[in-house]
Amino acid sequence: MNNFEYKNPTKILFGKGQIANLDKEIPQNAKILMLYGGGSIKRNGIYEQVMQALNEREVVEFGGVPANPEYEVLMQAVSVIKEQKLDYVLAVGGGSVIDGAKFIVAAVKYKGDEPWNLLANREEIKEALPLATVLTLPATGSEMNPRFVVSRRATKQKLSSASPAVFPQFSVLDPTVIESLPERQLANGVADSFMHTLEQYMTYPVGGLLQDRFAEGILQTLTEVGQRVIKNPRDYESAANFMWCCTLALNDLIAQGVPSDWGVHAIGHELTALHGIDHARTLAIIVPRYYELCFEYKKEKLAQYAERIWSITDGTIEEKAKQGIVKTEEFYQSLGIATKLSDYTDYYEGTAEEIARRFTERGWLGLGEHRNVTPDDVLEIVKNAY
Ligand code: NZQ
Ligand code: ZN
Repeated sequence: MNNFEYKNPTKILFGKGQIANLDKEIPQNAKILMLYGGGSIKRNGIYEQVMQALNEREVVEFGGVPANPEYEVLMQAVSVIKEQKLDYVLAVGGGSVIDGAKFIVAAVKYKGDEPWNLLANREEIKEALPLATVLTLPATGSEMNPRFVVSRRATKQKLSSASPAVFPQFSVLDPTVIESLPERQLANGVADSFMHTLEQYMTYPVGGLLQDRFAEGILQTLTEVGQRVIKNPRDYESAANFMWCCTLALNDLIAQGVPSDWGVHAIGHELTALHGIDHARTLAIIVPRYYELCFEYKKEKLAQYAERIWSITDGTIEEKAKQGIVKTEEFYQSLGIATKLSDYTDYYEGTAEEIARRFTERGWLGLGEHRNVTPDDVLEIVKNAY
């Protein structure tokens, strides 16, 4: 097992009815910006619950953060905070709203000319306003991690950054919020959290026995409850297990002491930036082809995964590993998620070349746990995914 340092300061308030506790968690004198998305919270009762809990507080609302949060919109929220001298951000939404809020709390304190540089140049974030979240869509793990991803449609860019300064102080995880999620978003949540787990597991063995079992526990639970939540999001037990899996899949616990990859995400973000495909679906398009190309480096873990998650016990390591890839693609398809780029767009020609060009330009010359997946490999992976 590799050495590690791990600190996660986010407090979790988990369960039915926890939104009512917002008042006791947010400092009494806080001047709050309440950030939300396109309005789902006004239709499903979450907005009312939040406002009821914050009764008597000074709250300024800012709605309209789109999926794949847009830089220009987030900068409008930064202006509101500065103009109205607000000092606390409460994000009520899915990954997009929470990621957007993380960017906002950092951008408010940014001293340079152009906050986009926080992403474009990955400038270090030294300070940020305090942030808390009410999660409405289990998927990204953003509610308990220091990362965020922001898009700029004008230039078809989607870039990420991270800083301990933007960890939410606390997050409310009420599993009943998933009752209003459409099937598409429920499937996305299962697909994204499954891939988060794989990014931190499907590398090579380093004797992280417990980390492997943690990851396998999440994968097994997701295969068990995935279909159930999609069919019946009112089943509280499944919803609670699903929600907690999503948070644990990316609060960095399972990554400690073991190698991580994140190559599938790096390529997937480009498919969203270029074609507007839902984040989770880009991962399903890339992962089988990525694992095929990286087969030699990953075959031992692929075989272990095939055995422990999919009960494939016959055959050589190579045969089991190949079955592991087949099962992964079938799992995504069983969620109703297509796994070819041409299922989503007719304009896929040139995508592979453009992504390889972007990676070369950014100096991303080696992805993966061995930093040896080159732009030429990326070109091949994406072409194989057409
Ligand atoms: O905007 P509203 O009207 O709220 O509708 C949203 C949105 O249209 C809707 N929704 C959310 N909660 C709902 C609901 N509809 C009904 N009932 C509810 N309870 O769902 C739609 C999608 O929401 P979004 O927040 O975009 O989805 P998700 O949580 O999948 O977030 C995706 C974003 O997170 C980034 C992705 O790249 C993408 O930009 N990620 C963030 C990560 C992180 N911070 O660690 C890691 C991930 O790998 C990912 O990259
Ligand atoms: Zn993801």
